[in-house]
Amino acid sequence: MTDSTLPEGLHPQTLAVRQAIARSQYGEHSEALYLTSSYVQPDAATSARRFANEEAGYTYTRTSNPTVTSFERRLAGLEGTEAAIGTATGMAAIALMVYGLLKSGDHIVASRSMFGSTIKLLGSELARFGVETTFVSQTDAAEWRAAIRPGQTRLLFAETPTNPLTDVCDIATLADLAHNADAWLAVDNSFVTPALQQASRFGADLVIHSGTKFLEGQGRVLAGAVCGPRAIVEDKLGAFIRSAGFNLSPFNAWVVLKGMETLFVRMREQSRNALELAQWLQQQPQVARVHYPGLPSHPQHELAMRQQSGLGGAVLAFDVRGDSPEALRHNAFHVIDQCRVISKTTNLGDTKSTISHPASTSHGRLSEAQRQAAGVGQGLIRISVGLEYPKDIQDDVLRGLGGLS
Ligand SMILES: Cc1ncc(COP(=O)(O)O)c(C=O)c1O
Repeated sequence: MTDSTLPEGLHPQTLAVRQAIARSQYGEHSEALYLTSSYVQPDAATSARRFANEEAGYTYTRTSNPTVTSFERRLAGLEGTEAAIGTATGMAAIALMVYGLLKSGDHIVASRSMFGSTIKLLGSELARFGVETTFVSQTDAAEWRAAIRPGQTRLLFAETPTNPLTDVCDIATLADLAHNADAWLAVDNSFVTPALQQASRFGADLVIHSGTKFLEGQGRVLAGAVCGPRAIVEDKLGAFIRSAGFNLSPFNAWVVLKGMETLFVRMREQSRNALELAQWLQQQPQVARVHYPGLPSHPQHELAMRQQSGLGGAVLAFDVRGDSPEALRHNAFHVIDQCRVISKTTNLGDTKSTISHPASTSHGRLSEAQRQAAGVGQGLIRISVGLEYPKDIQDDVLRGLGGLS
C-alpha cells in the first residue's frame, strides 16, 4: 500500500490530521476502514512471495492491515519515530515490547510509580519467564544508575507523567543512562501524548501508548502501540506479532485514527481545564495535597514544562484529609459518590471528565507494599479532566468536599 503524497517537513499537528496511506480508487475523503481478515491474492506464486516477505502486499490481518497501517504511520509521524506498530491494548504494547525484545536472563529497570498493571506484568508475570525487574524511584537518577547491571540490563522503562501521581522523570537523563549501558529506554507517553511531549526527541528509543486514552479521546475502543526505529519495530516486533497475535483490530485502528485528528486541540483545552481545577483544589481546606505538573508546587514543575510544551496535561490527583487509612478511604469515597456530572469510571483521556479511587481500582491488584511504594494512599482521588465548563466540574467536586468535616 502506497503512502499519501504529502510534502516533507510537515508539522506534527498537520500529520495528526493528514498522515495516512493513499486513498483507494474511490477517492474517499475520510480514511477507508478495511474491515477484512484476509486479502485475495492474484495468483499462488504472488501469495508465496508475500508470505515469504519477498514482496510487499497484504495477506492476513494478523500480519498487517491497511487501516492499521494508516494508524501506525500517523502515530509515527506524530512521535517523530521511523515506525509504529499497533496493538490490541496499551498492555499488549508493553507485552509485545518485553516478550518481543527480551529473553530469559535479561534485566529491566523500571519506575516503581507506574500504572498498576504494568507493575504487575513486569514484577510478577515476566519473572516467570526469567526476566527480572528492579523497581526504582521515578525521579532519582542515582537509583536508576545503581540498579543497572552491566551486560544484563537490556531495558529502562518509565512512564511520564505517572498514573496517578503525575511524577515526571527526566527523559534525557534516563536515555543517557540506558545508552551508556547498551540498553534501550522505553517511555510510556499515554498521559500527555506527542501533542505535548515527543519522548524520542529527548532520547527515548521506544515510545509506548495506550491508544485507549487521549489518542482515541472519547472512551470508545481499546488500542495500543509501540513506536521506534524500523529495525526494532518492524523487523523484530513486526515478526513477533505475526506469531503472537497481539494485533490492533482494523475497526479500533480507524476509531483512534479519526480521534487523533482532534488530538492537539483536545490536549490544549483539557490541559487548560485541568490547570484551572488544580488551582481551585489547592485552595480547598479539605484537600491535603494536589498532584499536577502544571502547578509551580509540583516537585518537577520546571522539568515538566520543558518536556511537555509548557502544559501539565489533563490528569491530576489529590489527597483528601483524614486521620486514619479508614477515614481517608471513607472521605475519598464520599467525594466520588457525590459527583453527578463527572463519571465514576477508571478510564482517562476522555472528553468526559472521569473520577476514580486508584487504591481500590487501577492499583487495587497491587500489594499494600507495592501501593505504598507507588505513593498511592487511601485518600487519593484521580480526575481526568474533560471538555465540560470548568465551573461545573468544580461544583461537582465541591458537592463531596463540602460534606467533609
Ligand atoms: C499509563 C498507562 N499505560 C498503559 C495503560 C494500559 O492501557 P490499556 O488499558 O489500553 O491496556 C494504562 C491504562 O490505564 C495507563 O494509564
